Amino acid sequence: MAFDVSRIRACYPALADGYVYLDGAAGTQTPAAVIGAISDAYLAGLSNAGGAFPASARAVAITAAVRQAVADLTGGEPDGVVLGPNMTTLTYRIAAALADTWRPGDEVIVSRLDHDANVRPWVQAASRAGAVVRWAEVDPATGELPSAQYADLLSDRTRLMAVSAASNVIGTRPDVPAITAMARSAGALSYVDGVHATAHGPVDVGALGTDFYATSAYKWSGPHIGAVVAAPALLASLRPDKLVPSPDSVPERFELGTPAFADFAGVTAAVDHLAALDGTARGTRRERVLISMAAAQRHEQELFRTLLGGLDSMRHVTTYGKAARRTATAYFTVAGLTPDRVAELLAARQVNVWSGHNYAWELTGVLGIRDSGCAVRAGLVHYNDETDVTRLLDAVAELG
Ligand SMILES: Cc1ncc(COP(=O)(O)O)c(C=O)c1O
Repeated sequence: MAFDVSRIRACYPALADGYVYLDGAAGTQTPAAVIGAISDAYLAGLSNAGGAFPASARAVAITAAVRQAVADLTGGEPDGVVLGPNMTTLTYRIAAALADTWRPGDEVIVSRLDHDANVRPWVQAASRAGAVVRWAEVDPATGELPSAQYADLLSDRTRLMAVSAASNVIGTRPDVPAITAMARSAGALSYVDGVHATAHGPVDVGALGTDFYATSAYKWSGPHIGAVVAAPALLASLRPDKLVPSPDSVPERFELGTPAFADFAGVTAAVDHLAALDGTARGTRRERVLISMAAAQRHEQELFRTLLGGLDSMRHVTTYGKAARRTATAYFTVAGLTPDRVAELLAARQVNVWSGHNYAWELTGVLGIRDSGCAVRAGLVHYNDETDVTRLLDAVAELG
């Protein structure tokens, strides 16, 4: 079978513990191959980069390999892959570097759909530069982020447009290519938050039309490493703060201090794992990633129809978000129970979900639920199966 979920589940030791893992949007579990790659890196002898001996050469090779792997996952160029501890840190870093080029009266566009990590770094950088922040609004009834509004938001003063490729709570996938095309014709750069989206389908930074694409490997079976993908020439045009003796080349110029080399090996193994989700996929790793992630998306979407249909059929449940294009991520409340209490009751039934705002700070305000504990998030990733969905629905039904 091309996409065999039981074969895939067997790759994840943690999934054997009897719990239903619907917390993937906060971080996925880790395949044995990824854990093995990290431990192999240490077992082989791993030193800092730049030395004249093999353990140092291995650090250099691991770093080159991870840039290629993230490029294969996203369709970017290896020399445009900036690595760091997580997306939030990298976004603050890029925001600071870009804001150095902004002047008072310049404009920045952020959206109320986004995780706060793609909002606050821009708002705070704009404030320091004297730039004006403009907000793209979400339709609270549907959870859509209408593209048409960007025609009014953009101007010849817009320097940066930040938008999410998918909401981490209601799953909405905005029409990113349309929005970035408008930004580009206005002369603005685009920064797309792909942290949630990357796990849920094929990614092609060229087709998205974005200048920067941010992702985090721990959302797609890797360790806690973030990456921002951009054109090397664009990176070379920016001057982030850095130490004098540290490399001034691109992308190293953006990377602070000594990185987590062994974790890089884990990221590469995670990309290899994703590329093999469809057991029949053939070709280059990039080609296999595209085939496999499309198969994973079909699998998730099929399960999600059952999950969402089941939640919507329960009178004591309210779901949020009805976007036409969305990831398999449900956000819901249960009448008479706070979201935190629901999460506790589900945990007691060995079903792992999240409750609260999940850093979708602006969006939970728009939905009018920020002051009431927000909602419960149950998200599917490629390793979830029908049993997971049934166990969630049975457990939620018992709360009615
Ligand atoms: C959509 C989205 N953007 C950004 C982030 C922040 O990512 P990181 O934890 O890598 O800083 C998250 C994390 O949950 C997320 O879901």
